[in-house]
Amino acid sequence: MKLLVLHESFLPVTIEKMHSEFSVFAVSINHKKATGLNIKRDSGRMETFDPKKFVEAQIAETNKKIGSARALVAVSGGVDSTTCTVLTHRAIGDNLVCVILDDAFMREGEPEHVVQVLSKPPFNVPAKIVNVRERFMNAMKGLRDAEEKRKVFRETFYQVLAETARNEKCEILVQGTIKADIIETVGGVKTQHNVLEQIGINPMQCFGFEIVEPLVTLYKSEVRIVARHLGLPEEFSERQPFPGPGLSVRVVGEIRPDKLDTLKKATALVEEGLVEHRPSQYFAMIVDNEQSAQQSRAMHIQETVARFLNVPSRNVRVDMFQDRATGVQGGKRHYGDVVGIVVQTMAGKLHQTAIQNLISLQAKIITENPSVARVYYAIKDLGEKKPYVIGMRAVQTQDFLTATVSEIPWTTLEKVADGVIAKCSNVSTVYYDVTPKPPATIEME
Ligand code: XMP
Repeated sequence: MKLLVLHESFLPVTIEKMHSEFSVFAVSINHKKATGLNIKRDSGRMETFDPKKFVEAQIAETNKKIGSARALVAVSGGVDSTTCTVLTHRAIGDNLVCVILDDAFMREGEPEHVVQVLSKPPFNVPAKIVNVRERFMNAMKGLRDAEEKRKVFRETFYQVLAETARNEKCEILVQGTIKADIIETVGGVKTQHNVLEQIGINPMQCFGFEIVEPLVTLYKSEVRIVARHLGLPEEFSERQPFPGPGLSVRVVGEIRPDKLDTLKKATALVEEGLVEHRPSQYFAMIVDNEQSAQQSRAMHIQETVARFLNVPSRNVRVDMFQDRATGVQGGKRHYGDVVGIVVQTMAGKLHQTAIQNLISLQAKIITENPSVARVYYAIKDLGEKKPYVIGMRAVQTQDFLTATVSEIPWTTLEKVADGVIAKCSNVSTVYYDVTPKPPATIEME
């Protein structure tokens, strides 16, 4: 039996009756419609996935592909690249050269921490940090468009890796690409930093190495199963994903040193404050506090918010930011406006309502204004203009292809926002992003 319904994400969903005697239904989102690729998931796959078999097969396969050659891997400390590194090290031992590109976009202290964990038992994978901060900052300087930044990041990333591979006499690059990376890039949602061959870029011709991707058939949840099986500490196996281009995709618009520094401070506070609520992914984003000239749209949204929340419209401030963010509309990339909503109460404090209510408000705003890709709702506002605003994001998701907004308690949101205002003297407002994926993506860019 097959039934086609509409999932809350607006993606078509197929419900298949799996075991009629128990009336168990498997829900699989038809991502073919959403992304242009046919991926079929079923709830049975997770149960039948055998990490021991997978690891054995991949070790054999990797050995066959790499043989006695030397291979390079760039690890970021995220679950995919770390799992890929440990797995490949099991296969080819010290013929694997492991580097951490310190590209300026990792969290504070992260490169050193990753080296320390990898080099200790049970892994004993020697890793070294390659400091390329200046090179990346120079390459990204002045760029504002998200896709342009992603492409420049990818180009710089692979040029640095090509040079490192030549220095280390490696002709093979091992990387932890997973299924979702390819789906999103091929589907045209965003250029993931690690997808080349699948979009027609020949790595041998362009960069002088072949690519081996041991995890490319897996979803994130399966990578975690493999990570646990390989004995990675919980800190890594259960870790929230961190994108390859790192914090660069969370600095909306132009990347400047002071803006990046502020984001690093806010990232530490947001991660520390939200972790206890166990969202699938949670982080901070930074936006220039510059408005675009869209007076009539802002006024229209102001009226919508006032009616929806039943507050006087003079209490509602709508900021339409100059820089845009990435979203998905009808399965395609949508680079749209970011709207910040600040609602004062009579007592001069900010208006609070259930997060679910704010998600419904967001849906109304985006339906009425399709150019909007993100709705931010203010948790703290200084009432004076400073150069930046911070967005907090927390989402629940299984596969990272769709995601819902986490219902974080207001007390937590306020506490974290207070901390950000206190520690970041150039930030005037801290918002919570109330946009699910779709219509937003998880990352801003
Ligand atoms: P989006 O923003 O596309 O993110 O909804 C889905 C998941 O992918 C991660 N992400 C990336 N991971 N390279 C990566 O390794 C990338 O270029 C990249 N872009 C997004 C994101 O953090 C989320 O978990």
